[in-house]
Amino acid sequence: MIIGNWKLNPDSLLAARQLSRASKKLAGRYRRVKVAICPPALLVGSLTEGSSSGPENFSWGTQDISWHDFGSHTGELGANLIRAVGAELALVGHSERRQAGESEVSVNHKVKAGLKAGLQIILCVGEETRDIHGAYLRVLEQQLTSALAGVNKNLLSNLLIAYEPVWAIGQQAKGAETPEGFWQNALFIKKVLAKIFPKKIALTIPIIYGGSVNATNAESFLLAGAMGLLVGRDSLSAEKFGAIIKIADKLSVEK
Ligand code: PGA
Repeated sequence: MIIGNWKLNPDSLLAARQLSRASKKLAGRYRRVKVAICPPALLVGSLTEGSSSGPENFSWGTQDISWHDFGSHTGELGANLIRAVGAELALVGHSERRQAGESEVSVNHKVKAGLKAGLQIILCVGEETRDIHGAYLRVLEQQLTSALAGVNKNLLSNLLIAYEPVWAIGQQAKGAETPEGFWQNALFIKKVLAKIFPKKIALTIPIIYGGSVNATNAESFLLAGAMGLLVGRDSLSAEKFGAIIKIADKLSVEK
């Protein structure tokens, strides 16, 4: 699955419509790959409305959800409402939300609320810094353990883990993780998941990679076992996003 996270972009409805059309067209061209776009939540209703829902392998998501279903929670967007306007998935615990003050308790409530509402949840985890002694692995373990505490194992087929080291995200990033690094950390994540859930189910949870993904490194992450990619900046250009989708499509034939 290739997921585009538009963050707070673009800055006009017209540009969002153009990019949305282009992204759907790309999904239509490369039907072996699941493609999803997470625009600013405000746009989801308007982008899904009226126009055809797009090819079957295309879906909409949001970058966050509320863990409340309804009530006095000013500014919040509930998972049921998000589904009602046509979104099928949601990111939870993205590092930019965590940096804005999102707590681990809140991430946990959101994972549960999203799964209960029937959304596919992309739980984002990742360390801020990498140390040679491996202390960052404790950060990953802590994030996973707290986010998934009390999650119903019968709903896990709708859960994906996005491994996104914070130092690899965004324009200021040092650059992407290496494919070997991804592979090692994905193994570690699987181990932690197998401590939280029955091993058989835990090992079916897909792990995807995010952080400075582009058309040059996408193939190496997919070959290193990433079950998908979470793309920020390069999902804002139909050309760059298309090149990534094309690579995923090619690999799905070869596998
Ligand atoms: P980036 O963002 O691709 O621009 O590094 C990734 C993300 O934040 O999900």
